[in-house]
Amino acid sequence: MKKLNVALVGLGFGGAFAGIYKEHPDIGELILFDTRPEISARVSDHIGGAKIADSFEAILADPSIDAVHLVTPIPLHADQTVAVLESGKHCACTVPMATSLEDIRRIVEAKRKSGKNYMMMETTLYTYQYFYAAKMKEEGRFGKIQFFRGSHYQDMANWPDYWMGLPPMWYGTHAIAPMVALSGSRICRVNCFGSGTMEEWLHEQYGNPFPVESALFEFESGIKGEATRSLFECARVYQEGMFVYGSDACFEWGFADGSDPYITTFHPAQEGKRGGWSDVKVTPMPNHYEDLPEQLWHFTVGGNYDPLNPQESLKKGAGAGHHGSHAHLVHEFVRSCIEERKPWIDEVLGANITAAGICAHESAMKNGEAVIVPEF
Ligand SMILES: NC(=O)c1ccc[n+]([C@@H]2O[C@H](COP(=O)([O-])OP(=O)(O)OC[C@H]3O[C@@H](n4cnc5c(N)ncnc54)[C@H](O)[C@@H]3O)[C@@H](O)[C@H]2O)c1
Repeated sequence: MKKLNVALVGLGFGGAFAGIYKEHPDIGELILFDTRPEISARVSDHIGGAKIADSFEAILADPSIDAVHLVTPIPLHADQTVAVLESGKHCACTVPMATSLEDIRRIVEAKRKSGKNYMMMETTLYTYQYFYAAKMKEEGRFGKIQFFRGSHYQDMANWPDYWMGLPPMWYGTHAIAPMVALSGSRICRVNCFGSGTMEEWLHEQYGNPFPVESALFEFESGIKGEATRSLFECARVYQEGMFVYGSDACFEWGFADGSDPYITTFHPAQEGKRGGWSDVKVTPMPNHYEDLPEQLWHFTVGGNYDPLNPQESLKKGAGAGHHGSHAHLVHEFVRSCIEERKPWIDEVLGANITAAGICAHESAMKNGEAVIVPEF
């Protein structure tokens, strides 16, 4: 059976994926590249050796490489994705897909011209929590889904320069993606407000004055969902949360990112009694690993890979961050290429999730005016 040769480009967060590709039974050769050669060498050592490319251009020109997974800085995503697709290779890219509607259009066009796969590597759609909520939906446990909510609170002080003053909703994908996926619909319209103030120098890079943005999205199905995103000067503890409000049950993320979620079951009002009542169970999430090749099971538990501390990472079972999602992302990308089918988070789903955030920021800059999210 055919094996896939994959290049992994950008090895900060990207380092977390190296071991997973290396151990995936459908991978022939893994090629690593980072513009900082010492990082490539460190990651290669950590996983017991991999080929290291000389440049991004050398990867594009190498006909033996079938697919490229980009985990590079946000401003590079669009140009690099288009270049990979135009070189005739499958492309996976970390979030966000792009930061302008025009760049999303370029990617969609390049994907369709190339006939190759594009996958947006959205971690929140393969977490323990997402699998659990999707199963609740499949079993009809929510009753009617009435409303969604998403959150992503994270302080980005001292992160690389391109983060400084980033419009919060340009990287809204973790708050938005679970709502879109669970709704089975697409976001078509958004009203968003920016809130708060932040230091003047943070306005310079992107002309964005807001540390926090909060958006109300309308889905084509008619349902609505709210998402809030903070990046600077907000003390709220880190959380990439997903909240589903049904007529029979709710799923609400725990207080911190790692806390167990609250599952609420509704007991309707008895005849003659005012209001129904809800019982709430703090529910530990089961791991979902059975669909993966056995070699990858150990990547669904443990912590994040840190390229600056590979030995520490090793102890934590590196590669399993973001609630077990990394191995599932790799597996879906690899299998979709081998099976010559579209991956789940393809250019259409990735574009809607990303464009909803771009349009949300546009709305915030127009003081909450409604913005139509274009269809891709
Ligand atoms: N949950 C998630 O999905 C998640 C989590 C963290 C980061 N991310 C995304 O992953 C990307 C990387 O995040 P990070 O924190 O590692 O960023 P970073 O800026 O700290 O690191 C990026 C790495 O890419 C390398 N690099 C820069 N330019 C390059 C080029 N032209 N070719 C190859 N390598 C290059 C850098 O040397 C660095 O090692 C970002 O786009 C971010 O949005 C996603």
